[in-house]
Amino acid sequence: MQLAMVQERIVPFDGLDPAYLDRGIYFGDGVYEVVRSYNGRIFALEEHLERFANSLAGIGMRGVDIEHIRSRVRRAFDAAEILDAKIYFHITRGSELRNHVADDNLEPNFFMTVTEASDSTEEKTKGISVSTHPDWRWKRCDIKSLNLLPNVLARLDAARKGCAEAILVDDVGLITEGASSSFMAIIGQTLQTAPLTANILPSITRNFIVKAAPDITLRVVEESLTPDRAREADELLIAATTEDIVPVVQFDNETIGGGKPGKYTRLLMQRFREFV
Ligand code: PDD
Repeated sequence: MQLAMVQERIVPFDGLDPAYLDRGIYFGDGVYEVVRSYNGRIFALEEHLERFANSLAGIGMRGVDIEHIRSRVRRAFDAAEILDAKIYFHITRGSELRNHVADDNLEPNFFMTVTEASDSTEEKTKGISVSTHPDWRWKRCDIKSLNLLPNVLARLDAARKGCAEAILVDDVGLITEGASSSFMAIIGQTLQTAPLTANILPSITRNFIVKAAPDITLRVVEESLTPDRAREADELLIAATTEDIVPVVQFDNETIGGGKPGKYTRLLMQRFREFV
């Protein structure tokens, strides 16, 4: 008899909940997005949907109607009635008995949560500590894939060191980005961050900062930094949808900017708040 075992329970294979056979679990074979709302309005939904479409194309999933995803997001968001929400959704290639080559006719699985956005964001405005970690990820980090084990391991390492984020360093010693955020340095009048390549996620918050920087007299330089250069920066920051813009005041035990959020970071945070 074909069967499955779930914890202590033996169940006939035929009656098994397809959720257990999700290719997202077996292979991380799916893509996701995280979107935020502020005061009842979803921020940058179109940009997130565009990136989602690119991620789907990147893993060769055709036939997902983005219009349909947009209306699901709107419907769930309206039903939740949460003003400051974190909206997470993913699509996997579907459910089937484990097989690397997916059946062409699989029905994709869609999953979404709408939850309260974390209120720890406020606390982080004082600045966080970060630690570096080797970037063990694959070569298509521009795809927002469900394969996040290297990111998870880096974050666990950072957490063990009392740090709120891991800053990933590639094989040639250059910083790519945070394990779940973009990373930027302010040196004099320049804002420096890694260029948009397949090594990093095209972050929507990064995009906002790059556009806003000239308004506060910062020149944007899209060039990767070494950890040594980052340590000497006047200001460091990370940026991500769930966190907004967060000042970094400690980098691998080195104090940055006297341990306080710098002038330009605070200006960027203020601009971002006004914008959203
Ligand atoms: N992460 N880089 C990585 C590796 C990320 O995982 C994220 C966001 C970002 C920032 O992208 P954006 O500004 O578009 O949110 C950069 C999400 C929030 C997550 O995985 O939870």
